[in-house]
Amino acid sequence: MMMTTHNTLRLCIDPEATERFRAAVHSRDPVSGMTHNFYRYPARFSPQFARAAIETFTQHGDVVLDPFMGGATTLVEAGLLGRIGIGLDINELACFLARVKTTPLTGADIKAIRLWLRKAIPNLNMRRMAKRPYDWIAAGYQRNISTRQTWPIRKTLELALDRVSLLNSASQQNFVRAVLLRTGQWALDCRSDVPSAAGFRNKLEQFLDEMIEGVRAYRQAAALSDSDLPNNRNSTRTLILHRSAEGIDDEPAITQYGPPKLVLTSPPYPGVHVLYHRWQIFGRRETPAPFWITSTFDGNGLSHYTFGDRKNPNLRTYFDIAQLTFRSIARIAQRDTLIVQMVAFSDASWQLPKYLETMRAAGLEELKMSNASDSRDGRLWRIVPNRKWYADQRGSIGAAEEVVLFHRPST
Ligand SMILES: C[S@@+](CC[C@H](N)C(=O)[O-])C[C@H]1O[C@@H](n2cnc3c(N)ncnc32)[C@H](O)[C@@H]1O
Repeated sequence: MMMTTHNTLRLCIDPEATERFRAAVHSRDPVSGMTHNFYRYPARFSPQFARAAIETFTQHGDVVLDPFMGGATTLVEAGLLGRIGIGLDINELACFLARVKTTPLTGADIKAIRLWLRKAIPNLNMRRMAKRPYDWIAAGYQRNISTRQTWPIRKTLELALDRVSLLNSASQQNFVRAVLLRTGQWALDCRSDVPSAAGFRNKLEQFLDEMIEGVRAYRQAAALSDSDLPNNRNSTRTLILHRSAEGIDDEPAITQYGPPKLVLTSPPYPGVHVLYHRWQIFGRRETPAPFWITSTFDGNGLSHYTFGDRKNPNLRTYFDIAQLTFRSIARIAQRDTLIVQMVAFSDASWQLPKYLETMRAAGLEELKMSNASDSRDGRLWRIVPNRKWYADQRGSIGAAEEVVLFHRPST
């Protein structure tokens, strides 16, 4: 990679790599493979994009940081490509997912998990008494899932979760919780018809098989690239922290790795309403049940996860928090760290200039990729039709505009 200066700073990579990167940005392939499909984390970017960025801009053993890791797409691809992956998020659910998606289970783990399900299935029976999780209920984590249509799913989850402690390692227990989470999302989130308890049990078995295949494939592929890691750093190849990106330059657990080679990320989006922390029951009512299923805690309200209240005039809080977090990211980086972001906007005409100004104020300067501009402004844009996001001013938006931005610390 070479950087030269004309009027704007340019990121020069060879034309073939540029073409591969551009194709990955525009890829419409469904998210699939390895552990990527363990959960439909809202606003996740594609594994193809993450892979292309990591392959293009880093080498084996380099450190790749995702300070807003969400469903951990970056971390999974970093692990598969033999890079050190560091991910953080203020959403504990994201950290749970990252852990499960990057933990390669052993053959003995898989055997224990299969046996657990075989014994659990006959017990997931509506005539049995479920042990009610009263602490979680009192704290509101079962909100909106005890309706006439949804209670059999809630009860099946209660019966299954009560048996999780029969597994004897944390990775086995977390894996089973993840299978229940995925099945719960399938059964409850954004559906107009809720399946029966029998339908839930069938899907649980199907997802367990699929996810075991995924984690096996991950283990095999990650083990291959592991053997190439320098300095025998295999055991520390993935670091997951539940915390804000603000202040990471003072976090010893991260700074001990030295400056990252690549920061690859998607922060919360300006003006775009994404529910990272809830499922939508019948499209109207929201539930924090994913936290109960995974035994994690909710961080209080949408604004906690989205850089503040989206109704704030001119998204002031959004841009204030963006500046604080990216200032910490700039400080942890060094001059040749590349910061690659995929950002979506509800109205790019005013939000993009404001976003770029915020990056400058945070201590970052923009680079444009040579030969890869797909628009008049020299940036790589991607239009995503039928996005189910909600923009503040315009109500439901039909298509989202997403742009790939490149930055590096300004001196
Ligand atoms: C667009 S999502 C990331 C999606 C991710 N690229 C993927 O592929 O799944 C943005 C994430 O930023 C997290 N977040 C919001 N504010 C944060 C902060 N101050 N520090 C760290 N993470 C934050 C949210 O919880 C959310 O998971």
